Amino acid sequence: MQNYSSIKESLQLLEKQVNEQLKEVQTLEILKELYQNTLGKKGKITEILKHLKDLSPEEKKEIGMLANELKDILSQSFKEKQKELEQKQIQEKLSKEFFDILRPLRKRVGRIHPLSQIQYEVEDIFINMGFQIMDGPEVELDEYNFGKLNFTDDHPARDMQDTFWTEEGFLLRTHTSSVQVRAMEILKPPFKIIVPGRVFRYEETDASHENTFYQLEGMMVDKNVSTAHLIYIMKTFLSTFFEKDVTVRLRPGYFPFVEPGFELDIQCLICAGKGCQVCKYSGWVELLPCGLIHPNVLKAGNIDPEKWTGFAFGMGLSRLVMMRHSIEDIRHFLSGNIRFLEQF
Ligand code: PHE
Repeated sequence: MQNYSSIKESLQLLEKQVNEQLKEVQTLEILKELYQNTLGKKGKITEILKHLKDLSPEEKKEIGMLANELKDILSQSFKEKQKELEQKQIQEKLSKEFFDILRPLRKRVGRIHPLSQIQYEVEDIFINMGFQIMDGPEVELDEYNFGKLNFTDDHPARDMQDTFWTEEGFLLRTHTSSVQVRAMEILKPPFKIIVPGRVFRYEETDASHENTFYQLEGMMVDKNVSTAHLIYIMKTFLSTFFEKDVTVRLRPGYFPFVEPGFELDIQCLICAGKGCQVCKYSGWVELLPCGLIHPNVLKAGNIDPEKWTGFAFGMGLSRLVMMRHSIEDIRHFLSGNIRFLEQF
């Protein structure tokens, strides 16, 4: 049989014990167990209070108060311990999840498109020869794409370049020559520029035709510019780009904005002119149209053709990339095919 003081002692002892035990607890599971054994329905406090029945009403009241106080104190201690353990658990989890943001990736992701790679390379070669890079709009006015380039309204040569028109009467530029007169309006001669860019033609697509492709326009305006300057610049560019001597030839070519106009061919680099599949057994590869700037075009750009002359060329950038890498189909470029792109 328990009396008042032994019950009180039990409660005090319990408080001490539980506080000691709490210090040792390392996991939330054990904490929960200890809680149930202490404050739970079948816990130690309930156990001790079973003996109240033997006491007087005053003693019951007093022990009851003591017991409630103890419950409050212990609940508080449990709560604190729980917080501490939860914090610890998070810390452990985080330390296991540690992610080294500076660690190099195993695989390189993303790369420069083969067209851009070659564009940058070509730009560097021309910059070293004193050219500057210019840009122009892809959605263009008729006058810059055609009119000021000496295409009259009913000029049959307009049909050479099938055109995408917008409903508002603008067009998608069919060649980078659209920047020629824009450049003349901004720059004072003498100047040398190149214009790499995207152009569009309303065309059936096949292995060598795309509705969207890339050109690189070149233009030089100075005093007494002749075909010899044009050939010299082209040969210097080509032998730097292909890293070997390149033999070129000029054939007559017609474009309204040059006079005389040429098609510049290079001797086939694969067979050295002997004839192979790449040059279709002719020994020559058609590479770029060019010519001396037509006086009407200089005039359209407010440049006096009596004082100044110039040359212009239009290189097919897509074509150049295909030759460099032996790519058989122009449609690969914009296909978005990762397996194609990963090769470069
Ligand atoms: N712009 C012409 C084309 O795309 C090429 C060209 C450029 C011809 C410069 C002569 C001079 O067909």
